[in-house]
Amino acid sequence: MFKFTDCIDSGTDYCPCALAEKGECIICSQLKDKVFCDCLNWKGTCIYQEFIDNNSKRKKARQYKTCSIIKRQNLREDILLFDIKVNNALARELNNTGAFVFLRNPSEDDSYNTPISIMESDVFNNIIKVVVKIAGVKTKSLAECRDKIMVKGPYWNGIQGIRFIKDIKDKGCLILTRGCAAAPAVMAARKMIKNGNRIYVMVDRGRSVENFSKAYFMELGCVVEDVSFYNDKKEINEDIKYTIKQLIEKKSFDVVLSAGEDEFHRNIIRFLNGIDKGIDVATVNNSTMCCGEGICGSCQIKGISNEKIKSCKQQYNPAEVFLKGMGD
Ligand SMILES: Cc1cc2nc3c(=O)[nH]c(=O)nc-3n(C[C@H](O)[C@H](O)[C@H](O)COP(=O)(O)OP(=O)(O)OC[C@H]3O[C@@H](n4cnc5c(N)ncnc54)[C@H](O)[C@@H]3O)c2cc1C
Ligand code: FES
Repeated sequence: MFKFTDCIDSGTDYCPCALAEKGECIICSQLKDKVFCDCLNWKGTCIYQEFIDNNSKRKKARQYKTCSIIKRQNLREDILLFDIKVNNALARELNNTGAFVFLRNPSEDDSYNTPISIMESDVFNNIIKVVVKIAGVKTKSLAECRDKIMVKGPYWNGIQGIRFIKDIKDKGCLILTRGCAAAPAVMAARKMIKNGNRIYVMVDRGRSVENFSKAYFMELGCVVEDVSFYNDKKEINEDIKYTIKQLIEKKSFDVVLSAGEDEFHRNIIRFLNGIDKGIDVATVNNSTMCCGEGICGSCQIKGISNEKIKSCKQQYNPAEVFLKGMGD
């Protein structure tokens, strides 16, 4: 299995971060209490040099800004679409595969930080589009926002295995999606289509009359098929398995993006692994997040060798995590 170590923030304006200051950098061995250089993923700048040049301090962390809600629409009784006005720099930085922000109701404190993916970022009008499913206390608090909302970003680790889909050209990607996780898949599809890739989307409408993402995928020029992934026992339907198998066997697709909850990723990856062990799979990131900066540990998961992965900023190969315990 293809293993790699990557930090989505390395080489950006937010690197070096608090982890480097405390000798916990994900990439740089010298900023991980070692005395030799063993850079795990060169991104064109030396993190150690940047740290020294910055007076051995971290770069400025992302801050919340209060933004205006331009449009608020109920897509279903428990699903909201927000159009939020941001500044041009943020709109540009969020116009990327895997981009997300933390949103918060202005009347609440830091414990209400809610990671939400960017579905669309209009860099001419500086408006971001997000879809929020009302689940518990934090998202209920977001649903109370009428005119103003607090936005912190940009963050980019909303998709794991991003390298499999980010820079591909003239290839084929199969997107399998359910629920609100379709939002980051729309952004990913937009970028892949721009790079000349073919996109085939199998979308589950769930309890909705139609999944909100369908119109966006169609407008982008993706081929879209409405499906129902699960049977009564919450197993993937046999007809869906047959269709996916046909598509993969004909080698029509080089990569799969699984955009649903973690159990969905697990089912999809295990099924795909049985058909073609070589196929690359990217997954929407569903970790529980709080700080988004690698500090609080709430997003920490374990990789295939039980190594700790800070999934808010660290990338992993989804197969490593979802095939765990299967001997791969
Ligand atoms: C990078 C990232 C991007 C996200 N993008 C979106 C988005 O575009 N739209 C959206 O609606 N949600 C998104 N989420 C999920 C969203 O952040 C959570 O639903 C939210 O934090 C739940 O908080 P809560 O207090 O409302 O619910 P909680 O009380 O914490 O949970 C309520 C229910 O939601 C489930 N839940 C909690 N956290 C998650 C989670 N991270 N993913 C899936 N289910 C969860 C719980 O299992 C529980 O059943 C994203 C999460 C991440 C990490
Ligand atoms: S969300 Fe705090 S460490 Fe990842």
